[in-house]
Amino acid sequence: MNFEQCSKLLNKFSQNALVEYLESLPENERNKLIDEISSVNFEKIDDLLRIANSASKTGRKMIPVDCISLKSLSENQDYLNKCTNYGIDLIKRGAVAAFVVAGGQGSRLGFEGPKGAFPVSAVKNKTLFQLHAEKVLSATRKYNSNIPFLIMTSKANHSATVAEFEKNSYFGLDHKNVHIFPQNMIPSLDIEGKLILSGKTSLFRNPDGHGGSLTALESSGVLDKIMSQGVEFISYFQVDNPLINIIDPLFFGIHGIENSELSSKALIKAYPDEKVGIFVKYDDSTVGVEEYSDLPKEVLSARDSDGSLLYKWGSIGIHVFSCSFIKRNISGGEINLPFHVARKKIKAYVKGEIKEIEGFKFEKFVFDSIPLAEKTIILETLRENEFAPVKNASGVDSLESSRELMNNLYRSWLLEKNYSIPDFVKNIEISPLTALCSNDLPSDLIVDWKENTYIGI
Ligand code: UTP
Repeated sequence: MNFEQCSKLLNKFSQNALVEYLESLPENERNKLIDEISSVNFEKIDDLLRIANSASKTGRKMIPVDCISLKSLSENQDYLNKCTNYGIDLIKRGAVAAFVVAGGQGSRLGFEGPKGAFPVSAVKNKTLFQLHAEKVLSATRKYNSNIPFLIMTSKANHSATVAEFEKNSYFGLDHKNVHIFPQNMIPSLDIEGKLILSGKTSLFRNPDGHGGSLTALESSGVLDKIMSQGVEFISYFQVDNPLINIIDPLFFGIHGIENSELSSKALIKAYPDEKVGIFVKYDDSTVGVEEYSDLPKEVLSARDSDGSLLYKWGSIGIHVFSCSFIKRNISGGEINLPFHVARKKIKAYVKGEIKEIEGFKFEKFVFDSIPLAEKTIILETLRENEFAPVKNASGVDSLESSRELMNNLYRSWLLEKNYSIPDFVKNIEISPLTALCSNDLPSDLIVDWKENTYIGI
């Protein structure tokens, strides 16, 4: 694209200020920026602007959704065992993969570098990536299986993520089984709808949300690769949850036995305005997730006849996807999910300086793919077993709260196995390589109890 063509395009989409800026640049820098601009899909940008200017509150009729509760499972031990055994068989025959989405910017945590490289464990200070990788490694040993580990990054943290895995020898995993690939980026806009610069010759773009992960799986070639190795089901999770049970036989088993295409774990919301998405059923019988910020207070706090919250099932970013579901929904190289808009502070390049400005970032959400599934399952999980996100630098969902939850869980495993824990012990950490659940813990371990006790190699 030359300067004239680029100016025409920019003027057509009311980006005149950028034309003036291009004119002011020396030729080599101008050409660099023109190259960037030529990769922008301006029709899409126009659509995004419309999203930004419309109030995106849900208008759809909805009712509470069905969820397979833990109570119902415990009352049906035959089904529980059947599903668990089915899941174990899937894992053993190499039909499952682990997939962590780690392309986010982690702005609330304020940690320099990929969030996965944030140290979280209470005694050994293991990073999120290390904990996840050790869980995958431990499961490959436990089930004598081959489990590919997929990691989605974004442009901003891709090389740092690759470096983190290389520096740590892939945390013991076979590097041929670890696939690290970036997601797409999408231009952000200022509040007037104009493109933003991030540097003298570059446009400001943000990662296209965790909903971009399904397209990235396809476009990176990783989906084809793992399918050719026999993988049928993908365990999807978020990088900032160190309690995640990545390779859960029951979850895979229910998904497989029920012929679900996309399954989700849900937990009971702690209080009406807890900031998690909510599973709902729409009037066309499809299931979806509504963002808490899109729902009125009356809906969030509505009660059922038994006094529990009517819309109680919170979404925590834990899913199983059938590979065939992703393939079936790819059209033109992508899975077409809607963009959501968020008004955020953006570090923009303005007249030679980096300044914080207000702007719009656009993201796709992975749960918007749920209504595309012909069959979907929701399975209850317990917060204390599986959800300890590290989102904020302090307070709710911080390192402190996450460590407390990890400590409580490891304690409960030891108590289940009849270990008595001395009073002076403050923190306990159990290596995933030693146990993935309480049942993996031998009952005759000689524990060297300390204020900060580590159980593992
Ligand atoms: P969050 O919504 O918590 O966003 O992501 P974040 O970027 O990590 O943190 P903030 O909002 O800037 O503080 C939930 C999960 O989705 C991934 C994140 O890495 C995290 O695992 N994610 C989010 C992506 O992989 N790509 C994205 O574009 C956005």
